[in-house]
Amino acid sequence: CGIVGYIGSDQAAPILLQGLEKLEYRGYDSAGVAVFSEDGLKVVKAKGRLRVLNDLIDGGKTLPGTLGIGHTRWATHGAPSDVNSHPQTSEGGRFAVVHNGIIENYLYLKNHLIRRGVQFVSETDTEVVAQMLEYYDHGDILETISKVISKVEGSYALGIICADYPDRIFAARKDSPLIIGVGQGESFIASDIPAILSKTRDIYRLKDGEIAILQREQIEFFNVDCEPVEKETEHIEWDIEAAEKGGFEHFMMKEICEQPKAVRDTITPRIRNGRVVLDDITLTPEQLRRFTKICIVACGTAYHVGVVAKYAFEELLRIPVEVDVASEFRYRTPIIGENTLMIIISQSGETADTLAALREAKRAGCRVLSIVNVVGSTIANESDDVLYTWAGPEISVASTKAYSTQLAVIYLLALYIGEQLGCFSAEQIDTYIAELERIPDQIETMLAHKEDIQFFASKYFNAGDMYFIGRNVDYAASLEASLKLKEISYIHSEAYAAGELKHGPISLIEDGTLVIALATDSRLFDKMMSNIKEVKARGAAVLGLATEDKTEIESQTDMVFYIPKTSTFMLPSLSVIPMQLFAYYVASMKGCDIDKPRNLAKSVTVE
Ligand code: G6P
Repeated sequence: CGIVGYIGSDQAAPILLQGLEKLEYRGYDSAGVAVFSEDGLKVVKAKGRLRVLNDLIDGGKTLPGTLGIGHTRWATHGAPSDVNSHPQTSEGGRFAVVHNGIIENYLYLKNHLIRRGVQFVSETDTEVVAQMLEYYDHGDILETISKVISKVEGSYALGIICADYPDRIFAARKDSPLIIGVGQGESFIASDIPAILSKTRDIYRLKDGEIAILQREQIEFFNVDCEPVEKETEHIEWDIEAAEKGGFEHFMMKEICEQPKAVRDTITPRIRNGRVVLDDITLTPEQLRRFTKICIVACGTAYHVGVVAKYAFEELLRIPVEVDVASEFRYRTPIIGENTLMIIISQSGETADTLAALREAKRAGCRVLSIVNVVGSTIANESDDVLYTWAGPEISVASTKAYSTQLAVIYLLALYIGEQLGCFSAEQIDTYIAELERIPDQIETMLAHKEDIQFFASKYFNAGDMYFIGRNVDYAASLEASLKLKEISYIHSEAYAAGELKHGPISLIEDGTLVIALATDSRLFDKMMSNIKEVKARGAAVLGLATEDKTEIESQTDMVFYIPKTSTFMLPSLSVIPMQLFAYYVASMKGCDIDKPRNLAKSVTVE
């Protein structure tokens, strides 16, 4: 989501609309504003793109006032609807709140207030904040805000206005970005720089736990204990285009770098006291025990997550798994029924083939669980259970953070089902959970060395063909690595199960052909070494990908990238990172249109 706020001498609503337009990349399923007019606090909000809101308030003309907050939404709790849009208000109407982030304990807090007679109107986690502000308010606004944020768990950037303070905006943050802009007799809040860049280049960055009070001529900062904090302004030199991409040249790189956070956001709320807790699904252990088969259906990158899932589920759960691309599944008269758990994976939740497969499965009586990134999308709506990925909007056509978060959900699901079915010892679960929780940091460490990949890309970006080989989960990761490369760099590439090489593809290897060998699965490392020797002997240049302990791979390769060690089924989360970077740098060196590759669409809603 994106938030913005303005206090000054100009009309607020048009400035808020302008700011929101620059934040639409953060979410666009609904939008709203709250403005202080002469006759009090007015809120207007609506489901749909920003232009719906714009039309409702006639570009801001029908909402006069010089102080306001605005929001553009990417639904998390509660489907896109007018009532779930922000600003959210308290029952008495004194507080209006815009929020970016996820309040993890909102249900607990909501039930607490409901028991004390507070009436809620929306399904959002944000309304809880608005209601708590009113409920706990005893006159000192700073103390009230501090008290409320000390009770909420999760992430938030908050913009708050209160009917008792018609000349102030309040802001607070934890784990979600928020900047404060300083102008001449005016002040701003925003999720991101582009929203206010046409108004000011001088900003403060709010830190976790800090609270800001904005007035026209003055901005004050406080820590959680309500003690004043001194902060320095920063002058922004970026142009508007660079700012929209957070200073990155392309959305794809921005999204690659967002993966640690996206994976963390997806995992953290679902691990409690060292165990996976999936409050979001209703499947009971009895139902889980009845499934004799799991079918996974998806398209594109999401399908590649399915291939990893097959290896993971079969090994950990010992349940047979079929994985299909949706367009094939539909027409192969699959053998499915009530004892089949159907898992649908889709970033957009709207892919036509995937949706058709879902409906086919429902007709056959399957229980459908979907893994989706867009709340309230058709696939989410039509599934029996949904596990959302908390990746936020993905703009680049080539999927990166959606893939990583979908994998994270697959691991959570495997561990959850495994525990329900008694597949693991307590010790095993502890190890798996610890490793899962380490993944975001491990991705972050790998991203810190992206220049090594850039160097390698500079040597090979002119290649005509590339081959990716691997076994088991390394084969699954090869499929995604190859897709990433071909879709954005237009280089012909193929992924093969390494053992299949000798049955055909090896005839394509000649002097200088680039082979990227994913050899991270230690159980199959020696087999991969043999395959690498086979292609080397035919003149191939080989890039090896292995875990840190397998340095012997250097004897057979031209270059090696190492990834940290983890349980086999989780390796693709790490091995995909250098592969995404490699595709990106190759495409960048070739001057390709990285975020919008030719002939491809982000969401394919036709068969
Ligand atoms: C398109 C996109 C891919 C995506 C696939 C499935 O082909 O370009 O990036 O993986 O659709 O989309 P979904 O939204 O269902 O994950």
